[in-house]
Amino acid sequence: MQRLHITLGDITHCTTDAIVNAANTSLLGGGGVDGAIHRAAGPALLEECRKLGGCPTGQVKATQAYRLPCRFGIHTPGPIWHGGTANEDTLLSDCYRNSLIAAAALGCRTVAFPSISTGVYRFPVHRAANIAVSTIRSYLRTHPEMQQVTIVCFDQTTFSAYQTALSESEYNDAEKR
Ligand code: APR
Repeated sequence: MQRLHITLGDITHCTTDAIVNAANTSLLGGGGVDGAIHRAAGPALLEECRKLGGCPTGQVKATQAYRLPCRFGIHTPGPIWHGGTANEDTLLSDCYRNSLIAAAALGCRTVAFPSISTGVYRFPVHRAANIAVSTIRSYLRTHPEMQQVTIVCFDQTTFSAYQTALSESEYNDAEKR
């Protein structure tokens, strides 16, 4: 049974237990998916975020979801792409793993992610997709209580990159068997 899904859509419509926000270290909102999530959640989200004192790259902070149809928001600042020599790959993997750990601690069984860092932060999308898929799949292998993870892509190019990453990851696993 597939527990990692790639979809094309708007993460603010997701009814998963938690949605993950590609935030910045201030946690005070911004453009892209961060802006969309804050607009959909309403001003109470920013009020809660103001009290959190920011968040380091790769770490996460959770909030209520307010007007969003999910139960929790999990905010994680992804790495800004500096060419791949500033530990970006590890920090991006940390965003996915720490978000799943935080979601599970809140009792979440379903989580939706955007394509973290591949917009304003300019992380190459295929490289990011491979990191996201491998991090999520290794978490799911050791955490059967997490029922389903969805990566919600906002455009076709991103969607294709994540679908390719998932197919390659599944193929590599099959090869190992
Ligand atoms: N639903 C799902 N994905 C979305 C949505 C949405 N409503 N809106 C945008 N996206 C996608 C973008 O198309 C991109 O593929 O989210 C991905 C991440 O892009 P950004 O939102 O630019 O995030 P990121 O690259 O991590 O940069 C974070 O941008 O918005 C600011 O405050 C944010 O400073 C932080 C920086």
